[in-house]
Amino acid sequence: MITVIGSINMDLVVDTTIFPKQGETVLGNRFETVPGGKGANQAVAAARLGGEIHMVGAVGQDGFGEELTANLSTEGIHTRFVATAQETATGIANILLYENDNRIIVVPGANGLVTEAEIDEARELIERSELVIMQLEIPQETVDYALRVCKEAGIPVLLNPAPAKNFKEEWMNNIAYLTPNETECEEIFHSEIEEALEKYPNRLIVTLGAAGARYYNGKEHVFIEGFKTKVVDTTGAGDTFNGALAYAITSGQPLKEAVRFANIAASLSVEKFGAQGGMPTLQMVEARLKG
Ligand code: RIB
Ligand code: NA
Repeated sequence: MITVIGSINMDLVVDTTIFPKQGETVLGNRFETVPGGKGANQAVAAARLGGEIHMVGAVGQDGFGEELTANLSTEGIHTRFVATAQETATGIANILLYENDNRIIVVPGANGLVTEAEIDEARELIERSELVIMQLEIPQETVDYALRVCKEAGIPVLLNPAPAKNFKEEWMNNIAYLTPNETECEEIFHSEIEEALEKYPNRLIVTLGAAGARYYNGKEHVFIEGFKTKVVDTTGAGDTFNGALAYAITSGQPLKEAVRFANIAASLSVEKFGAQGGMPTLQMVEARLKG
């Protein structure tokens, strides 16, 4: 059983072929509202693969909040610890899809109200988890506190440090797996990627986008190549990687196989629109793994 402590957003997505200059108005291609938020996305990714997932987070008392909680339930995720915040709107992400890539502005709203009190309420659940997953779209103090609770209880944590500016290096003592992308890795460790990897063997896994992912196994650098595919929407690819990695690790896969599995899951996710749209089932990942 995996517990995800993290953000739940409604993604407001605009797809455009023309990027407006400052002060300019352009016509876009389409607009969609789809479920997102790094926490919720990682929970959905792991649940689609067959994981038993509990979500700890918060939404506002509004239509988006209701929709997003219902979406988590539809995916088979337990939502007992998804709080409804009274005076704050549900978090949203303003996403601009442009040239096969995205630009995102997150307005945290209720995600900012995931506090130490929420962690205490869910403590019994957290302490029964095989793994806890977090990202950095909830308050830093909450992550800090949850890491201490997990450390005390001996529960491993997979932390996806996005956005990286909220990361504290001292947290490494309480983290089993850290999964930054290259930019986040440099921002966090202020050093060459090789150097950082060698400092944290088998714990620091750096994602390389379409190129795959890498880590250091204590003897040598390990590169796991990504699966080349036709990209429709990269939003949520990193989240799919994390959810799938967590699923694979808790299923007992060795790190190398788990990273390969997560790469394949991420490659499937980018073939469809929306952060959660292309997240695969276990059968889909296994079929692509067999080639
Ligand atoms: O990682 C992608 C996610 O980041 C989006 O779903 C958006 O909500 C932001 O949190
Ligand atoms: Na997608």
